[in-house]
Amino acid sequence: MKEFTRFIAQEQNGIANALENVTKKLPSSVREIASYAFLSGGKRLRPVLTLLWYNLLETEQKITHPELSVYDASVVLEMFHVASLLHDDVLDNAELRRGKTASHVKFGVRPCLLAGDALLAMGNKQMAEFQNTALMSIISDALLKTANGEIEEINLTGKIPDNAEEYLAVIEGKTAWIIRSACEVGAVMAGAAPKDVAAARDFGLNLGMAFQIVDDALDFSPEEIIGKPSGGDLRERKCTPPVHMYLQSLTESERADFIQKFQNISNPVFAGRNIPKTEGKTFSEQELQTIAQKIIDAGYPQKTRELAQTYLDEAEKHLQGFSGTYKTMLAEAITYIKERKK
Ligand code: FPP
Ligand code: MG
Repeated sequence: MKEFTRFIAQEQNGIANALENVTKKLPSSVREIASYAFLSGGKRLRPVLTLLWYNLLETEQKITHPELSVYDASVVLEMFHVASLLHDDVLDNAELRRGKTASHVKFGVRPCLLAGDALLAMGNKQMAEFQNTALMSIISDALLKTANGEIEEINLTGKIPDNAEEYLAVIEGKTAWIIRSACEVGAVMAGAAPKDVAAARDFGLNLGMAFQIVDDALDFSPEEIIGKPSGGDLRERKCTPPVHMYLQSLTESERADFIQKFQNISNPVFAGRNIPKTEGKTFSEQELQTIAQKIIDAGYPQKTRELAQTYLDEAEKHLQGFSGTYKTMLAEAITYIKERKK
């Protein structure tokens, strides 16, 4: 992963500068929250993917702007991502994000919801600067799909999906679309031919699916590594692949008991959601920890990574036909997702 890692390090300054510039343009009321939320970011995977596809496909027809560059376009998807996390941490009642106090705990729920909205609006405004309707359409779709994925996840909370597709549709919406859009924006900014834009978007969608599936596997890693409590998805009643695998391993009576407790959520944050109201039994903290340990001991996180691999294989197919260093880096991005440890 040498080339990809080097590119990430090399681009951090350009991405950070673009984020700083757009933060300055935000209303002062949301600037502090935005800066805090941006600082909790990791490798800036989404902007990095935009930049990689841009560099791979750059043509004479590339989109230009007198004052803005592809860095300014690349951070729009990061702004959307960060906005979605501001909202998500409220929805999930999360206390930690990447080992730091979650923004809504630090600044309050209402300011954070509105700061998220301001980031979405500013992202749109920045992309509109490029005066390209294809770009606007791509990012609007990303927002719609992300919001829809999250709503569908809420509708599935405490429920067991009827089939794998139901859950996969949720993660396609909540995670994969923004990653797909990051890749597509890079290709469109580069002025690439339609078939290459399609390759970027299909690569991104599959990489994004794998990203979230690996995330679901990592959810059972220790808190010191992931910067949030281990087994959070189980606590939040998300029937992710490792949880679903565990359910499949149970006897009929164990399964009935699990489902009853899984449905019964005492956490007040879920009040008002479309969740079946069942009286009685729910998981004790001890039980949650025991189940999480059983999931780990049975190797379900590792099996979940095997599911992710099918998407990574698909992503790789969309790199065929390209060559050079940027293609190598994109191929290494696949390895990075595969081996991601936190
Ligand atoms: C993290 O998932 C959350 C997301 C990937 C998407 C959140 C989307 C919304 C709140 C909808 C609003 C949409 C926009 C664009 C503002 P997770 O909770 O499984 O992961 P985590 O453990 O990192 O929180
Ligand atoms: Mg969450």
